[in-house]
Amino acid sequence: MGAGKSTVGEEVARRIGRPFRDVDREVELSLQTSIASFFAAEGEEAFRVREAARTVEALRSATPCVLALGGGAVTREPVRTALREHAVTVLLPVDAETAWQRVRDSGRPLARERAAFLALYDQRTPIYAEVADAVARDADDAVLAAAGIHVERGALARLGELVAGDGPVALVSDPHVAGIHGMDAQLSLGPRLAEMHELPPGEEAKTLAALDRLWQELRLDRQGTIVALGGGCTTDAAGFAAATYLRGVAWAPVPTSLVAQVDAAIGGKTAIDLPQGKNLVGAFHWPVRTVVDPALLGTLPAEQRLEGMAEVVKAGLLADEPLWELPDDELVRRAVAFKAAICLRDPYERGERTLLNLGHTFAHALEAAAGYESLTHGRAVALGLLAALRLSGRDTTVVEEVLSPEPVRVDRERAWQAMTRDKKARGGEPRFVLLGTDGPVKDVAVPEADVRRELDRLIR
Ligand SMILES: NC(=O)c1ccc[n+]([C@@H]2O[C@H](COP(=O)([O-])OP(=O)(O)OC[C@H]3O[C@@H](n4cnc5c(N)ncnc54)[C@H](O)[C@@H]3O)[C@@H](O)[C@H]2O)c1
Ligand SMILES: [Zn+2]
Repeated sequence: MGAGKSTVGEEVARRIGRPFRDVDREVELSLQTSIASFFAAEGEEAFRVREAARTVEALRSATPCVLALGGGAVTREPVRTALREHAVTVLLPVDAETAWQRVRDSGRPLARERAAFLALYDQRTPIYAEVADAVARDADDAVLAAAGIHVERGALARLGELVAGDGPVALVSDPHVAGIHGMDAQLSLGPRLAEMHELPPGEEAKTLAALDRLWQELRLDRQGTIVALGGGCTTDAAGFAAATYLRGVAWAPVPTSLVAQVDAAIGGKTAIDLPQGKNLVGAFHWPVRTVVDPALLGTLPAEQRLEGMAEVVKAGLLADEPLWELPDDELVRRAVAFKAAICLRDPYERGERTLLNLGHTFAHALEAAAGYESLTHGRAVALGLLAALRLSGRDTTVVEEVLSPEPVRVDRERAWQAMTRDKKARGGEPRFVLLGTDGPVKDVAVPEADVRRELDRLIR
């Protein structure tokens, strides 16, 4: 009572695109009288029976939804069983005094007297802790819980308990990251660690040769879990190995670069490259758990950090919130929650998820023209964001200040060709994600001359 379940629940439902049901309210309506008079007439036990029936029915609903439960619902065993079977259960903690202040004048029968209320609070607290799969302070935390993502400074030290299941683990990492954080990962996985593998560093990990070697080295059975420790190249390649090995085994990325934490390891996309282009072979394979430890960013070189900041600025522009101004832990948590919510709404990228391509049509064209070698993705995205903001009639100061984009020296004609060939182009006309007055809009057709002009401005 008084934790803010309805407010947070409604926000989570809106963000992940699920219906919201306030079961507490539904039960109350079904009584056809106030809870107080029902309690007086029929007693608390009769109320709990009704509450449990309604809650279990809601939990078994075929439509995935966000439910706010009544405070007493979890005291019944059938409700706890249904929660275990059908739900991700998120606890919104509230301290006793705050809860009392919020509910004291609400007319609820169990909130009439302070001492009784505090006793009830003490009695229920351990039950809540027992049923909760995650503890959330706000809607972002709840979205992360729904997506199976754990963001916490120091999480690497708790990997063993955080990676779901209790089967054996194959740890896959890049040699550089293994040298820095591998030992901590090993210690924390403890006896669950059954095998260790290294992928080649960087984009080399995302080749058929590297995958072939990893497939052949793996010894896990279907009960096993692949844990991928490293940047986006490691998580993309190891995730694809998990999607394909034995027709798919569980996996858990532990992203170590900013790019991987806020982007590559979020949303279940895995891939390797072909000589013809990047990410051309892959699979959607949602991890059983994603463990994000912002402390790992402490060893990340500045230029790699800037790569990730390009995606953070992108997310902030889409969310219309200055995420880039936040301290690391909060920046990562908020950016991850933003992407996770969009991916939960559109897990297979059939619609809304393309919003995440803000600035990317220009970026991909520049990368293709530069031959991928001389221009990093983050620098290309910084430039692409400039173009997207200009086409949206927006101020570009944020991108200039946070990302310091520099026009690149590439062949203008080659960039233009790549732009019109981009895979998001439909009917020969490139479509763009732009920022409108009510938020981002996808599939915007822009006159060719304007596109060409903005592309040219990014090239020196
Ligand atoms: N699957 C997706 O949705 C998605 C989204 C975005 C990007 N990606 C992919 O991610 C890849 C890029 O990821 P990346 O930028 O992380 O590349 P990366 O994996 O090559 O890592 C970049 C460099 O940082 C080093 N590094 C990583 N973590 C470190 C740490 N904590 N301390 C010190 N050094 C560290 C790595 O060893 C590497 O040298 C690309 O292949 C891209 O296609 C995938
Ligand atoms: Zn990107």
